[in-house]
Amino acid sequence: MHKILLAVFLLIAVLTVEAQEIKEKYRPQFHFSPKANWMNDPNGMVYNNGVYHLFFQYYPDDKIWGPMHWGHATSKDMVSWKEEPIALYPDSLGYIFSGSAVVDVQNTSGFGKDGKAPLVAIFTHHNPILEKQKTGKHEYQSIAYSLDDGKSWTKYSGNPVLPNPGITDFRDPKVSWYAPQKKWIMTLATKDRITFYSSPNLKTWTRESEFGADAGAHGGVWECPDLFPIMHNGKQVWVLIVNINPGGPNKGSAGQYFLGDFDGKDFKAYSKETKWLDFGADNYAAVTFGNTGDRHVLLGWMSNWQYANQVPTDPWRSANTIARDLGLKSVDKEIYLISVPVKELDALSTPGFSQKSMQVKGQVDLTEKAKNATGLFRLDFDTKNNADFAIVLANQSGNELVIGYDKAANQYYIDRSKSGKTDFEKGFGEKHTAPRLAKSTTISLTLIADAASVELFADAGLTVMTDIFFPDYAMTKLYVKSVSGITIDNLKYSGIRPSMVLN
Ligand code: FRU
Repeated sequence: MHKILLAVFLLIAVLTVEAQEIKEKYRPQFHFSPKANWMNDPNGMVYNNGVYHLFFQYYPDDKIWGPMHWGHATSKDMVSWKEEPIALYPDSLGYIFSGSAVVDVQNTSGFGKDGKAPLVAIFTHHNPILEKQKTGKHEYQSIAYSLDDGKSWTKYSGNPVLPNPGITDFRDPKVSWYAPQKKWIMTLATKDRITFYSSPNLKTWTRESEFGADAGAHGGVWECPDLFPIMHNGKQVWVLIVNINPGGPNKGSAGQYFLGDFDGKDFKAYSKETKWLDFGADNYAAVTFGNTGDRHVLLGWMSNWQYANQVPTDPWRSANTIARDLGLKSVDKEIYLISVPVKELDALSTPGFSQKSMQVKGQVDLTEKAKNATGLFRLDFDTKNNADFAIVLANQSGNELVIGYDKAANQYYIDRSKSGKTDFEKGFGEKHTAPRLAKSTTISLTLIADAASVELFADAGLTVMTDIFFPDYAMTKLYVKSVSGITIDNLKYSGIRPSMVLN
């Protein structure tokens, strides 16, 4: 009798574990996702005392967007994240929308104590009551500070610090220190343009200028901007990131950027043309970490407002992209932002294989060599043949995710039409394309695959695509195909081990 009971008990235990495994089969293994419930934009990303902080738009009571909080996660390397208790809760002024955080080293705000520099969060309060009353003034900027490295926060009693002048969409402040004039600059999304404000102390703000009425893409509202300089060939180039939704190159949400000069007052773009940070469908609200010196590391929300509320994950929704180091690169007379996975990701590599001079005519099956039961990997290769090819991730149920290059169109693409579950939104299964911006004949690629996402960094990060997908089983099979034939000069494949700290 006891034995039977024990057997039944064990069976139930095994079934429960299996059910959980199946339930979490889309769980990202080395990208941050909250343990449960809804997440959107990364917020307040800042480096302080050896720790990277990631706050994020979070609704702790459901798997769909709702009254926004700031969730919190910490990391020592930007690739293993530990979820922390919620940092900011909605209050009488409204929901806590997107924003940024700074280390107020000189204690300009006066919030510091006993020589400890405060962390100051600058965010949008979104007031749902005023929104219903259609005052057009339901978004305004507020601040909060922390003296214990982001664990607990005190909202400033003088909030809001920047009232709404009558602009319906007035949000997502990104604040940074402008050393030449010893002042803070706030880059704010104001409907379909950017407005810059300045402040000596984070508490009082003065309008400086605006940018964008006649520049860039305007297929949707402008959100989540960022502004920072990068040195390029001995010259300081200012990068203005402006996320836009909808109106992206492959529908819905996406990030555009402008390069130009900034003098503490005006941003003057070299060109009014839009450039895209990432041509995939799933990198939105991407902004950079503060307080990282000359390093500029970008992280985005790996989803799209087209279907974010419907993706078939449970009990959470959404993950972030891998952190990416930004740089600038000239191609003929144009300068582009390039992004590559942070080098910290290398520490997660597990043994793989490499091969030189691999001929691909038809199809080469790399599944055996990869021996990767989890389907998490990084693939790097380069080929001097500028010809069509495709990399196919597949599994035992016939799901296929195809990442490729179309020579005639000179485009990279990701086709997720047969990648598994796609029917939760009618556009999800579409093929996404991106121009090849590089002029060299040699094509180099880096591909990062997690359980439910792929990130393509082509030509050393000149063309980037991020797409999520929902396969029935892990994508453990891998093929390279080319009808016309290519030689891959150097191919390197390595597994990636899970990195999230679960507590
Ligand atoms: C962008 C966004 C922001 C806003 C937040 C609300 O995805 O719409 O503009 O602050 O999400 O959650």
